[in-house]
Amino acid sequence: MNNKMKTSDISENLKGSEILNIGGKVRELLMKGEKIYNLTIGDFDTSIFSTPKLLKDAVIDAYNSGYTNYPVANGEPELRKNAAEYLKKVGGPDYIENEILVSAGARPLIYSFYRTVVDPGDTVLFPVPSWNNDAYSFLNRAETIEIPTKPENKFIPTAEEILPHISKVSLIALCSPLNPGGTVFERTQLEEICELILNENKKRLSENRKPVYLLFDSIYWQLNYGDAEFLHPVLIRPEIKDFMISIDGISKAFSATGLRVGWAYGPEDIIKKMSALLTHVGAWAPKPEQLGTAAFLAQFDEVQKYLDHHRFELSERLNGFYNGFKQLKSEGFSVDAIKPEAALYLSVNLELKGKQTPAGKMLNSAREITDWLIDEVRVALVPFYAFGSSDELCWFRLSVGRASLDDIPKIIETFRKSLSELK
Ligand SMILES: Cc1ncc(COP(=O)(O)O)c(C=O)c1O
Repeated sequence: MNNKMKTSDISENLKGSEILNIGGKVRELLMKGEKIYNLTIGDFDTSIFSTPKLLKDAVIDAYNSGYTNYPVANGEPELRKNAAEYLKKVGGPDYIENEILVSAGARPLIYSFYRTVVDPGDTVLFPVPSWNNDAYSFLNRAETIEIPTKPENKFIPTAEEILPHISKVSLIALCSPLNPGGTVFERTQLEEICELILNENKKRLSENRKPVYLLFDSIYWQLNYGDAEFLHPVLIRPEIKDFMISIDGISKAFSATGLRVGWAYGPEDIIKKMSALLTHVGAWAPKPEQLGTAAFLAQFDEVQKYLDHHRFELSERLNGFYNGFKQLKSEGFSVDAIKPEAALYLSVNLELKGKQTPAGKMLNSAREITDWLIDEVRVALVPFYAFGSSDELCWFRLSVGRASLDDIPKIIETFRKSLSELK
């Protein structure tokens, strides 16, 4: 076939993921037999972070019981009911099963929410760094307003930053806990953004116009550490419920990225429209996985026991790296990190522009620092420009999903040596 055959505009212009590019480069080195610490992937090594046995067994039981036909289009009722009850039990917002839509992980839900509320030419506002909103906007032929967030705000956006744009936007996409930051909203930050949306919508609804919607991606909400509190917009301002969808699922909380079960909760009429859209994509979670997840969530105490362990193991690693970078900073190296609050990520600052590497390369941008990390330090991190930030910004995402505890001091030592070799 002729490779140059023309296809749709969208398919020809869709940008590849920078995270996957970096991952590919790392894989090439590994295939050549080189040693490199790969801290780029937002996934788990299941030999370190195993999927709960109860969940796996429940899925296998469902397969063996013959539940291998089509699932119900909006999700198996048992799963929607148990997900709603689970959320309530942990102090989350109150939703009923018809306000929940299940799909094959979180991605189809995000895609279908965009599809449901964004028309071509509409404007989507999202903070950067953030995960994949540029791609979802592109797929919907939307214009974008990207708000660069600040390290002093833990890369969380503020109402003040959104205010000048609110009258122009159809959708605001927020993520907390944040991928890539590993940080969460403070109560007042979130409260002020809810207030902004509610005020804007009062105006729009009185003029019979489409409201501004909120996507609240909280896929990491169960992975929070220390004092970091999980805050949900509906718990802060219940009136926002009419305008928002939340994203949840088993991928990250239960180290089950390959099982493909996610759910969204929101107003019933929007959920119905999202479900109708996904019917044509067929992005349902397999029925045995849905029934297995339903049975697992019902065993509340066991789920909490698993989560306590999962959180402990993740926070040990995040704090190990955090303390290591703080130690390097105290030794005078131009590095820093933000205290880990949630998810499996640490924000790391490598302020190395203007330095020269032993191989004679100048480090003039985050791109060149990323290459130096892979080629010379042999530790791969994801730069924040892969999440839409400027490549002037020397911040990086470090993922601990595949990090063994033993490796942490070795990696920090590798940094100490490499940093001291820079001129
Ligand atoms: C913020 C965020 N939302 C959604 C997803 C996708 O989750 P899933 O694998 O369940 O589709 C990811 C995956 O990395 C993510 O980081």
